[in-house]
Amino acid sequence: MLTVQQNINLQSLNTFGMPAHAPFFSVIRSAADCEQIQQLIPEGYPVLPLGGGSNMLFTQDPHAFILKNEIKGITLVKEDEGSVWLEAGAGEVWHDFVLYCVEHGYAGIENLSLIPGTVGAAPIQNIGAYGVEVKQVIESVTYWNFDKQVFETLNNEACNFGYRDSIFKGALKGKFLVTTVLFRLSKVPHFNISYGNIKEELEQQGITDLSLKAVSDVVIHIRRTKLPDPAVIGNAGSFFKNPEVPKATYEALKANYPAIPGYVVSDTVTKIPAAWLIEQCGWKGFREGDYGVHQRQPLVLVNYGQAKGEDIYRLSERVIASVKDKFGISLEREVQII
Ligand code: FAD
Ligand code: EPU
Repeated sequence: MLTVQQNINLQSLNTFGMPAHAPFFSVIRSAADCEQIQQLIPEGYPVLPLGGGSNMLFTQDPHAFILKNEIKGITLVKEDEGSVWLEAGAGEVWHDFVLYCVEHGYAGIENLSLIPGTVGAAPIQNIGAYGVEVKQVIESVTYWNFDKQVFETLNNEACNFGYRDSIFKGALKGKFLVTTVLFRLSKVPHFNISYGNIKEELEQQGITDLSLKAVSDVVIHIRRTKLPDPAVIGNAGSFFKNPEVPKATYEALKANYPAIPGYVVSDTVTKIPAAWLIEQCGWKGFREGDYGVHQRQPLVLVNYGQAKGEDIYRLSERVIASVKDKFGISLEREVQII
């Protein structure tokens, strides 16, 4: 039953734990709900889809109609010898979907285990981890367009996926709600264990027979040791993106800072871990009141309890300014600021 609630506290619905209030709030459980809710949105209120609230920072009460996405369901649409095409409801929990694929022997997203949030949010910033990005397995994304009042489907190419980026962060923002995502997964695994310490962990655990479950388990284990659990300390994962700079800029920095890490993106572009830059500026483990920079992963800003959204935002400004000052690099925020 589609109902509209007013003045809803969002504290338990965002992983930073910010107590923002939504003027209007509805739970969307089906594609048909999108058409219905359209009639109930007051003039002047954009829509703000909410999944798991794990990539958002509320610095104020949103002037928006919050649509909490709970569209469920996983359907096998078709298969051939090598692949399956699965359509997943946008409100499915991402990690549950990964586990479903691992259990059924569908390969491609095992490295993306334990990323918080929903299936529908995965294409928004093209989630990625441990050498895999979700764009590698997305066939198409279907959404309700609130401007045109129609369902639209974009194929992979039209989604314009980039590093933590897609078309959905641009012109479409505030005007659409993803309802389903179509994935193409492989029946034959192609293990990708070259990132970070996946290989070492597998060895340490004595795993010689690779399986989707083994890779998923190891990724889960590594993530648990590195990243703070939002159920314990409020956070939204990486607050900043890793900056991509011209190769020449990287080489000039390397002359001054020989230890600076860099990953080749292309012949002309190098990605520098923002965690390293932030750590060099002395922020790792910084804490002031209830806000701070995590002690194991400086890319993650944290709320120890009563921090406000503005506290975290101002801290992010200080971090950006000091990295700019020391290295001449402008960090960009990854988290959606509301
Ligand atoms: P929300 O935070 O609810 O929403 C994020 C944005 O997407 C908002 O702008 C929202 O309006 C929009 N949106 C959400 N659902 C829809 C929809 N159905 N239709 C249209 N717009 C929508 N991210 C990574 O890429 N890699 C990681 O390794 C990673 N690790 C993390 C670790 C931790 C501990 C945390 C807290 C976060 C991490 N993240 C990571 C970030 C986060 O998990 C992802 O961005 C995730 O996709 C967010 O999903 P969500 O459902 O919580 O989105
Ligand atoms: N590093 C430091 N100090 C630290 C931690 C890391 O200098 O305290 C440097 C090291 O050089 C290390 C490098 O940063 O090798 C990379 O660290 P890590 O493997 O932890 O990954 P990251 O670049 O910090 C990115 C993603 C994460 C994703 C991991 C694993 C971004 C913005 N973040 O982090 O995604 O889980 O890789 O693939 O790209 C997220 O988006 O919210 C997120 C958590």
